[in-house]
Formats: sequence, C-alpha cells, structure tokens
Amino acid sequence: MEVIIRPTREKATTLVARLLLDQIKAKPDSVLGLATGRTMEEVYEKVAAKNPDFSECSSFNLDEYVGLPGTDENSYRYYMNEHLFNKINIKLENTFLPNGVAEDLKLECEEYEREIGKRGGIDLQLLGIGRSGHIGFNEPLSALFSRTREKALTPVTIEQNSSLFDNPEEMPKQAITMGVGTILAAKRIILLATGKEKADIIAKAVEGPITSMISATALQLHQSCVIIVDEEAASELKEKGYYRWIFKNEPEWKKYQDF
Ligand code: F6R
Repeated sequence: MEVIIRPTREKATTLVARLLLDQIKAKPDSVLGLATGRTMEEVYEKVAAKNPDFSECSSFNLDEYVGLPGTDENSYRYYMNEHLFNKINIKLENTFLPNGVAEDLKLECEEYEREIGKRGGIDLQLLGIGRSGHIGFNEPLSALFSRTREKALTPVTIEQNSSLFDNPEEMPKQAITMGVGTILAAKRIILLATGKEKADIIAKAVEGPITSMISATALQLHQSCVIIVDEEAASELKEKGYYRWIFKNEPEWKKYQDF
C-alpha cells in the first residue's frame, strides 16, 4: 500500500483523474471498476473535460441500491450516466452496475461476478471510503473474501447518504455490492478520500489492524493499492513523513509531482 498526500482536495482529485486517464491510454480496452459518491464527482468532471477515448473500455460499478431502478435520480446508474457516461464516448452497453430491481437478487449477484470474469477481471478499481470504513457497501463484518451480494446498510451509512434523498426516509436500507474479495481481485486499486470527516477512518484503514469491522483495512493485503488523500483526510496519519518521502523519491511517481 502507498499513501499519497496532496495539499488540497483539488490536487487530490486532479491526480486521480490523471491516473485514470493514464490507465486508458496505456490500455485502451481497460476494464474499470468505478465508484459513486460525492468524492468522485470532481474526478469524473475532470476526466470528462479531457475529452478522453473510452470507446474500448468497459466498466463495473461497485454497488447499487436495492429497489431503485436506473431511472431513479438516486440510483447509482443515474449518477454514473449523469456524471460520466453521458459525457464520454464509452458504449453504454459496456457499462455495468448491479440491477437493484432484479427479480432474483442472488442470481443477479452471481451474474455480475461472471460478467467481470468474462471480461478478464478489473484492471483498475476506484474506491471512496465511507465513515463506517466501508469500501463499496461492505459494511462492518463483511467477510474479507466476500463476493458480490446483498448487504444491509449500517445506521452510519444511512445517516451519511440519506441527506442526498429528497425524502431521507426513502433511502433504501439494502444494497447490492461487490464483495471485499471482488475488490481485492482487481489488478490495481486507487482509493480517494478528502476532507476532515474522513481523517479518523483513513488513519484506521491505513495504519490500523486488519479487521472485517473496517473493510477498507483489507486493502493492506493488496499488492498494488494507492491511497490518495488531501491534507485534511491525512491529518490523523502517523507516518506522514515516510509517505511523503516515497511519493517524492519513487521513480513511478516522478511525473506526478505537479498534479
Ligand atoms: C459508492 C461507494 C461508497 C462511497 C463512500 C464514500 O459507490 O461504494 O463506498 O465511495 O460511501 O462516499 P462519499 O464520497 O459520498 O463520501
């Protein structure tokens, strides 16, 4: 795991956008794992602004609310279309999200895993982190080997996201999410977190013991995972000096110093 601390949210989101664009340049037919949420909005805006070529890419989103069709403004399908897919040249038929209104949710989850496999697995997975420590909607006690499945949302997550609904009571209490094991199977992972309210959970995820109570700690097991944070989200990390040294000195990061 590597940690990159950027001075501001602006710089952190610019770096993530750049890494995503470099991925599709290096591998035009990349299979991308995508996240929704407030943190990612700026990333997608910056990606779309560069007029990128996504024509050969396919994408799999982490999660979707159970009970919301893609036409619902609060669904993650709607979010992705609005914030990214409608602004770039990705083929909509190559964009996948779990279907939250599938008749048989268990089968839907199995098919989602199969489709990822058919396309050769995820090359680059983008992640945010929830205040519960979730990645995707892998709430506390999610098995570290779990695969795509239905998951009940914790009160912390319901509180975090319900304000986005016109009527907070209408926020679904269940979601379909890729499992921690599905996420860990991606070839490369980038987690982005910004703002003071993420500082405590970032410190636990990066420097705390691995535990299914905080699914983001499982990322410590991954061979190629980068955590990108702004100064505020980094504020409770203990080894900041070391992380900064790595970013400054590792050849891999040389060309990204100014982003
Ligand atoms: C979204 C997702 C979640 C969010 C997390 C952070 O698809 O899987 O894990 O990334 O809840 O959300 P924001 O960015 O709104 O703080």
